[in-house]
Amino acid sequence: MEIKKSEFVISSPTVQKCPADTKPEYAFIGRSNVGKSSLINMLCNHKNLAKTSATPGKTLLINHFIINNEWYLVDLPGYGYAKRSKTVQQQLSRMITSYILQRKQLINVFVLIDIRHEAQQNDREFIDWLGESSIPFAIVFTKADKLGAVKARQNVEAYMNALKDRWEELPPYFITSAEKRTGRDELLNYIDDINRSLDESR
Ligand code: GTP
Ligand code: MG
Repeated sequence: MEIKKSEFVISSPTVQKCPADTKPEYAFIGRSNVGKSSLINMLCNHKNLAKTSATPGKTLLINHFIINNEWYLVDLPGYGYAKRSKTVQQQLSRMITSYILQRKQLINVFVLIDIRHEAQQNDREFIDWLGESSIPFAIVFTKADKLGAVKARQNVEAYMNALKDRWEELPPYFITSAEKRTGRDELLNYIDDINRSLDESR
């Protein structure tokens, strides 16, 4: 799939304020600083579509971007940024969970995991919660350029293997780098396949 057009639509503080539209949505979520906004920019061939920052906690609202006038990419705030006050963390957490549970147009969640790090408890809780809530999702490993190919592959295998303790069927996963544009075609093809199947079932 080619992205011919990508435009910022709106930043919303609650799911109720999200665009009144029925086009399919794909949301990006993960810990603060994992690279959600950078990945969206990479997919869209656009340097500054989604705001990125070297300091965590940049994205605080639900951000909708419309792609080819047909579907949306949604940039969500990161979870688990310890320097935020508990109140703000809880507010963000409520905003994210209500968006995920209530947004009917949400077709798939991409959970971003930094490929360099050991498995983190809050990512795992989030992944298990998505499963228990029957929300379709895929895992996206980010910042692959920061590791050699062998180490990257080892980390991914270890991560996916660890999921087997609770998961019989593993979710799809992608290895990406916003820096090197790795995984772009795979992610866009995945979205394109789903969009096509939605069109057919209409
Ligand atoms: P919040 O909005 O704060 O939750 O962060 P985010 O997940 O949107 O992360 P963001 O895209 O702002 O990126 C955070 C930092 O990681 C920035 O300094 C990016 O330049 C860097 N970064 C993101 N993706 C990559 C990547 O693929 N490779 C490398 N080397 N750095 C990356
Ligand atoms: Mg962001």
